Amino acid sequence: MTQSRLHAHIGTVRQLEILLAVYQQGSVTAAAEQLHLTQPTVSMQLKKLASAVDARLYDQVGRKLIFTEAGLAVVSTAREVLQSFDRLDMTLSQLKGMKAGTLKLAVVTTAKYFIPHLLGDFCKLYPEIDIDFKVGNRQQIIDRMETGEDDLYVFSHPPRDHALQTYNFLPNPLVAIAPEDHPLANVAAIPLETFAEEPFLMRENGSGTRHAIEQHMADREIKLNVRMTIESNEAIKHAVMSGLGVSILSSHTLSFGGRTGLAELNVQQLPITPTWYLVHLKSKSLSVVAQTFLDYVSDTGRDSLLEELNSQT
Ligand code: PGA
Repeated sequence: MTQSRLHAHIGTVRQLEILLAVYQQGSVTAAAEQLHLTQPTVSMQLKKLASAVDARLYDQVGRKLIFTEAGLAVVSTAREVLQSFDRLDMTLSQLKGMKAGTLKLAVVTTAKYFIPHLLGDFCKLYPEIDIDFKVGNRQQIIDRMETGEDDLYVFSHPPRDHALQTYNFLPNPLVAIAPEDHPLANVAAIPLETFAEEPFLMRENGSGTRHAIEQHMADREIKLNVRMTIESNEAIKHAVMSGLGVSILSSHTLSFGGRTGLAELNVQQLPITPTWYLVHLKSKSLSVVAQTFLDYVSDTGRDSLLEELNSQT
């Protein structure tokens, strides 16, 4: 079936609204008054509509308007179209009232440890809201944000070259870890230079954790002894456990992800302390559902998450 292109000829829905008013009022003047338009504007719009449908819409007989068959058909479609918009309007305001819909969240890999804890309570409060949850490293999440695919993003290092609205909501301490039987495990105030000599397991290019570590070390002109690049926090933890080296990871990967077999080292000038942000492009307006989530985080979510974190450490 080929699709009619008529809608492309009809200038605006407003023309249909004008036609319907003229039909209901029985006169151009009365319709103009009802719509707060001038009479020539109404006549002009009707003329355009008639030419778009390529048919006369009515005849003027004395002071009366007699609608042609084509005119009546357009009136009937106009009614349907406007009713559809009314229904859409209702659905949208229901969505606003009921807080229903889908929350699209995309978070950096390290945030996947704690964001689900926020979502658990949120979903209980708003059972009509579905969650679409994507995880990637910092660069992958920046790429998603540029295409505007999601409502909100979680970063601890939001890109600086974008116009962003950011909501700071939690500290993200990056701590030094080693296997629990490591000789430095019980040493106090290890100089950062000493720690840097240990074989280091680094996250991949594009990782926010890596970005923070590199910046921290470059600021202090200290070079890490990088031995291996590993693409996942979990794999780094296992590699550290098995004695392949030391690393620096978000403490959330330990508190929510487990710390068995690992020791947190007491290194001078650590932890690195970035902050978690919920972020969206300034140019993208927030959906009601996304605003509801932001309000939830700042009203209660953030505090209960902090409580949970403190009880785990
Ligand atoms: P990552 O990001 O998971 O890409 O390392 C964490 C962050 O942005 O701090």
